Amino acid sequence: MGRLIVVSNRVQPPGDTGDGAVGGLAMALAAALREHSGVWFGWSGQTVDEYTGQLSVQRIGGVTVATVDLEEQDRLEYYNGYANRTLWPLFHYRVDLSAYERTFSEGYARVNARFADALTPLVGPDDFIWVHDYHLIPLARELRARGLKNRIGFFLHIPWPARRLLITLPDHRELVAALFDYDLLGFQTEDSTGAFRDYVRTEAEGSIDDEGVAHAFGRSARIGAFPIGLDVENFVAAAEGPVAQAEYERMRASVNGRDMIIGVDRLDYSKGLEDRFLAYEQVLHDHEELREKVFLLQIATPSREEVVAYQEIRARLDAVSGRINGAFATVDWVPIRYVNRTYRRDELAGVYRAARIGLVTPLRDGMNLVAKEYVAAQDPKDPGVLVLSQFAGASEQMAEALIVNPFDRAAVAEGIVKGLGMERAERIERWTALMDNLRKTDVIAWRDAYVAALIG
Ligand code: ADP
Ligand code: F6P
Repeated sequence: MGRLIVVSNRVQPPGDTGDGAVGGLAMALAAALREHSGVWFGWSGQTVDEYTGQLSVQRIGGVTVATVDLEEQDRLEYYNGYANRTLWPLFHYRVDLSAYERTFSEGYARVNARFADALTPLVGPDDFIWVHDYHLIPLARELRARGLKNRIGFFLHIPWPARRLLITLPDHRELVAALFDYDLLGFQTEDSTGAFRDYVRTEAEGSIDDEGVAHAFGRSARIGAFPIGLDVENFVAAAEGPVAQAEYERMRASVNGRDMIIGVDRLDYSKGLEDRFLAYEQVLHDHEELREKVFLLQIATPSREEVVAYQEIRARLDAVSGRINGAFATVDWVPIRYVNRTYRRDELAGVYRAARIGLVTPLRDGMNLVAKEYVAAQDPKDPGVLVLSQFAGASEQMAEALIVNPFDRAAVAEGIVKGLGMERAERIERWTALMDNLRKTDVIAWRDAYVAALIG
């Protein structure tokens, strides 16, 4: 059998402690490749004056990591542009934020062609290629144009949007047609898979057969839901290790008997942070008895900072958290501790464990690994409660969490209050069910199921 070649825009070598880039994709792929010697190819994150296609190849922890530098114009048109100003907002149901410019599409096509040029010489005849996420939808088409006959799969880490939203994208047909150069299309959820099927049937006038194969644009691709999992054993080990333990003790001392609510997110408008702050404010407003007894620690790592929508959400969160703190703080209590730094994974595990509530309320999210990390980090004898948005992909698998509609401020506030008051027996019961499922559907199971379907 050939090697597994993983391709993604962002490459984060395995073994990284997490003090570099953050995001579910990098965390999961680092784990998925660790036990599967292979190649991980993508953008170095660096730009050069003129594109050369020069590969930088390193061996890291049994994995060959190969990257190319891009040009400044690529970063603007492909990464900041088509990927993060056109597709990301649209696929997260923010048509209002989605901007379409021809130069973005051109940059997107150019970078996918560049990736294909750089990758093709690395591929042996028996290798199988697994392409990740919305940055690289046309990559298979480019690889096929260069003569590659290998099995090529695609996995989308973000939601696939409802058809009526997708058709607002001027080049939606070309984008979807390009997916049919893959052998396998994987989505995070049944919801996304269903939305894709709907597009195929209604917009592309194609069909889905009994085997789950989609036929459209004169070609066929197998489709299915492959919900991404967490590197559970490693995360549990991290949560029980010395760094997490020290962080846990430090947090316990600093909470001073108060209940901590934790939020951990990339600073992204899809994560629903403003609504989350407002729901928490509602709790403080309605429940005088909870004031000074709880606090919210929101860790939000700046992300995609050159894109205006991200600058705007950052400014809004600064303002809203400041306003709430100004309104409710006392001399020895700050209701929201708002932190913009990146944590090591083991530190993060200790922080999660010290929190009574994990508050995960994205307005739309492909999966959301933070929800799973929060559960995995808990003390089995005294676990906290997960309050989870129904619009996170994770909600399809985590029914024992307190599921809330993040657009309904009162419902999120009720979830918080219910979680704070939940008896230990119920917390243990819910957590045990969540944890059993996390173990059964971990990142290795995800990888194996996907790869089996791709090869099979
Ligand atoms: P997304 O892929 O949209 O960022 P996920 O919740 O799936 O969302 O994944 C986020 C990942 O990034 C998680 O593994 C989380 O632990 C990590 N992460 C987010 N914020 C931070 C932070 N401030 N420090 C360290 N890791 C973080
Ligand atoms: O998981 C979704 C995702 O968009 C990944 O593709 C990406 O690597 C991650 O979030 C973080 O975003 P970025 O790579 O733009 O920092």
